[in-house]
Amino acid sequence: MARVYNFSAGPGTLPEEVLKRAAEEMLDYKGSGMSVMEMSHRSSWYEEVHNNAANTLKEIMNIPDNYKVLFLQGGAHLQFAMVPLNLKKTGKADYLVAGQWGKKAAAEAKKFISVNVVASSEDKTYSYIPKIEKSMLSEDADYFHITTNNTVFGTRLRDKDIVCLENVPLVADMSSNILSEVYDVSKFGIIYAGAQKNMGPAGVTVVIIREDLIKDVDASVPTMLQYKIHADQNSLYNTPPCYSIYICGLVYEWVKKNGGVEAMQKINEEKAKLLYDCIDNSSLYKGTVDKYDRSIMNVNFKTGNEELDKKFIKEATERGLVNLKGYRTVGGMRASIYNAMPVEGVKALVEFMKEFEAKNS
Ligand SMILES: Cc1ncc(COP(=O)(O)O)c(C=O)c1O
Repeated sequence: MARVYNFSAGPGTLPEEVLKRAAEEMLDYKGSGMSVMEMSHRSSWYEEVHNNAANTLKEIMNIPDNYKVLFLQGGAHLQFAMVPLNLKKTGKADYLVAGQWGKKAAAEAKKFISVNVVASSEDKTYSYIPKIEKSMLSEDADYFHITTNNTVFGTRLRDKDIVCLENVPLVADMSSNILSEVYDVSKFGIIYAGAQKNMGPAGVTVVIIREDLIKDVDASVPTMLQYKIHADQNSLYNTPPCYSIYICGLVYEWVKKNGGVEAMQKINEEKAKLLYDCIDNSSLYKGTVDKYDRSIMNVNFKTGNEELDKKFIKEATERGLVNLKGYRTVGGMRASIYNAMPVEGVKALVEFMKEFEAKNS
């Protein structure tokens, strides 16, 4: 079967070029006589893969020198706990809850610290990003947690709209839009992201952490949950998810070769516009979130008729446009158009949407 256009929210589509290179290197990585999957994580072969991945990420995200890149496990979910466990001082933190993942992050943090939800858009099923003013934030919070892209509902918080306090570390879950648009890393204390949407396969979580936040923590915190342990050992304290890191490294090189994050953002904005224009010019499809806050990674829409939504998803699948079903609690359709989704894939979806509308309205 030919490759399909895969609109999955995650694990998501990866650049074909990267998959082909991985296939070529599968049996014999650069003359080592083995695959990266089979190498000792202490070998010089792997060391190069590991350090290249971190260095290329630093380059494409313009990460300042006083930050470390960690490759951890446990998904973004584990960061929901590691952040409070490692940043706890006064024992209080601010959270902006603009989606289901932000809500989960706050709920997990509550196990360890006192959580102040500064604003939430749950009142309108997370269809917008609440506006924040500095006066709403706590000067004595250990950190302020945000989610830059709400994968489930399809909203995003732009870099220029982030409001935070100078002396309170800003922590961002960037799982579903890291590398998709430019964020000024220097304003963040910690950025974390599961790899499986815009970076590589599941199994590795990237943590970008400012060095002053890497410190000894209460001895009762499990060893594997201490940033300092991982930072001191260059993420090689235990066996890292070597193969996932290798693929991430190839994806970072692919981003670099294609003009970096700024170029990705330009293409992503064009791709998103194609879809949103189609939705806005249609009398069948309806967008589900406020226009200004629309995500350029996860595009949600509905017909308003569940049976018709099902028909849409079925017929799209038959056309090789797959994984368009909305999140289980939201329904409708969701097209995840991560960096690796080619413009042709989005154009094919728009064409199908127009045809479907003509036949069904
Ligand atoms: C924004 C966001 N945060 C957290 C998660 C959870 O990630 P993981 O499955 O890696 O724990 C997801 C997964 O979809 C997500 O989109």
